[in-house]
Parts: sequence; structure tokens; C-alpha cells
Amino acid sequence: MKKYNTKKIIIANWKMNPQNSEQAASLFKKIVLGVKKSRKSKVVVAPPFVFLPALQKIGGLDLAAQDVFWKDEGAYTGEISPKMLKNVGVSYVIVGHSERREFLGETDEMINRKVKAALSAGLKTVLNFVKDELRSDLEGVSQRFAKNLIIAYEPLWAIGTGNAAEPDDIFEMATYIRRNIFDILGKKAAYETPILYGGSVDRKNAEAFLRARGVGGLLVGGASLLSKEFIDIVKSINV
Ligand code: PGA
Repeated sequence: MKKYNTKKIIIANWKMNPQNSEQAASLFKKIVLGVKKSRKSKVVVAPPFVFLPALQKIGGLDLAAQDVFWKDEGAYTGEISPKMLKNVGVSYVIVGHSERREFLGETDEMINRKVKAALSAGLKTVLNFVKDELRSDLEGVSQRFAKNLIIAYEPLWAIGTGNAAEPDDIFEMATYIRRNIFDILGKKAAYETPILYGGSVDRKNAEAFLRARGVGGLLVGGASLLSKEFIDIVKSINV
């Protein structure tokens, strides 16, 4: 049984940025070029939905959506299905980001439906974890889909604040998360599910997080909008 993923997963979460497709394409191309030689990391870009097809066309990196709905089709105004994401070549999706919980009122029940729908559509599903909602978010998830699960741990006070957590504290949290995954999804998933750290990651602190025990990668918000800064973050594990 392999312990943790060997390649670090580094996800650029662009949130509601940038404002037009030219800027999105230009940022994406710079990142593609800058991380091309990175062998120790798997870089994924999560742009707003509207830029996904254009960035997929440019190619060079896997793409993530920042959200997904739990139904495949139907009268759900404004929503995007797992199938639609697959059909534009998206392979990852972030589910339950704390900003969606806060500003859109997403509940654990909704997130649980999204997790199940995304996993059964074959999307690698990055569940955003802030404190103790793991059990309700993962309730009823089948063990056979667990290989596509990724947990992104982000302390609320660290998101967008410039105050990152201490790399040493992440191990403790990762252990707690693994213990929960063990109870819900069994031993294999507990060992193998990558646990990412997110919250004010920048080029100065990235290496310490990437080298911290139990950390399988990073979810990067603000710093992923600055191509040089983000490329440095990715390179910090390749030195
Ligand atoms: P931040 O955001 O890096 O700007 O703190 C991280 C996230 O919320 O994904």
C-alpha cells in the first residue's frame, strides 16, 4: 500500500478572477510554461467556469472547476453538471469551498450530494475542509470511489488573510483527517487520500508546507493570480 501520493498536487484556485478571457489565457499560458519542467508536482488550475473551454483548448495542465451541481441535467437554472464538466475536459472539481458555505449558504447536505455526484462521474474531487464537517460531507460515499478523493484543509482564519498556519500544526490536522477517513472510507483511503493545505500560501512559506509530514500538496488562492509567485511556489518542491 503506497503511503500518500508521491507527486504533490498544487491547485491554483483563481476564485472569481480574472475579469476577461484574454487575461485568463495569458495567466494560464505563463503558468503552463513556468511549471513545464516540474516533475515532483501535479499542477491543476481552477478558473471560473466561463474560461474552462478556452483554457482546455490551450492545454498543458489539468483543469478544475470551482463547483458542481449534483444532478446530471434538468431544470436547475444556473447550475453546471458533473457530465458537462467531463465533456469540456475538466478532470478535477473543488466542492464545498468555505467561501461557498459562507456566501451561498451551502450546507453539508448539499456538499455531500455534490461529493457523491462528482466522484461517481469520475471527477477527482477536492473537498474543502475547514473544521468538523468531514463525516457529514462524506456520508454514504462508496469506498470504490475513494481513490478520486482529495481533501483540502484550510483554516478559516488563514484564507486570504496573509496569516498562514504553522507547517508543524498541519501534521496533527492531517492525522485527525486521516483518522476520520479511516472510519468513513477504510484503511486504504485513510493512507492514500491526498491532504492539501490551503490558506495564505505564498512563495515564502510554500516549501515548508510541501515538506511538512502528511501534506500532499497545496490549494493556492491569491498567490495563484500572480504567475511568477505561483511558479515559484510550484518550483519550491523541485529544488
Ligand atoms: P488564499 O486562498 O491562498 O488566498 O488564502 C486559498 C483558498 O481559499 O483556496
